Amino acid sequence: MATGRFLVFEGLDGSGKTTQMARLQKRLTGMGIPAETTCEPTDGPVGTLIRQILGGRISMDPQTLAALFAADRTDHLVTPDTGVQALVKQGHIVLCDRYYFSSYAYHARDMDLSWVICMNAVNAKILKPDLTLFIDVAPKICLERIRAARKHLDLFEKIDILTQVRDNYFAAFERLRDQETVKVVEGNASEEEVEQAVWRHVSQMFAGR
Ligand code: TYD
Repeated sequence: MATGRFLVFEGLDGSGKTTQMARLQKRLTGMGIPAETTCEPTDGPVGTLIRQILGGRISMDPQTLAALFAADRTDHLVTPDTGVQALVKQGHIVLCDRYYFSSYAYHARDMDLSWVICMNAVNAKILKPDLTLFIDVAPKICLERIRAARKHLDLFEKIDILTQVRDNYFAAFERLRDQETVKVVEGNASEEEVEQAVWRHVSQMFAGR
């Protein structure tokens, strides 16, 4: 029987989650367990609109933006054949850079967490991650990394915002601790050390495969 898995990487902008996801993919593939990567916002029609908003080219009120992220997520899940739900059902291992905990963290700055959870209820019903890994890096370090990498900062890339977002992540983990499997990985370490910590959590899932 196909045993697909859905693993999500979460973290602040600049936390290194994308790098860690790529490292995990390489490791799994090297072990003969092919894994696919994907991300949110997606490069689909709704995700493309979202990126224009984040980059400041279009302005949008926070509620509409949160609704767009939820819609982009549904689209990401239910697209026939290539959507995440279809891939997992076919037995694929799907690694995703951000999922609904990003919404709970980023949008609970403007709306109640309950509102954001409600907005994503359809997504949680369609597919819950087998595991969510939160790469925990101090907001100050995240911003230093983003600044070193590029000149232009996106909408949410400010210290007070990232601090609030980190707090919101932990509030959401606490609120949903009976419904979700979340592991927090200390991310203020070398890439290799973080990779090892990630692997300690993920390897259990693949033991005996
Ligand atoms: P992302 O492309 O992951 O940025 P980075 O690679 O720099 O981490 O995400 C873009 C931004 O979108 C990021 O600031 C977080 C935000 N975001 C939300 O506000 N809500 C969401 O539901 C998601 C998935 C992302």
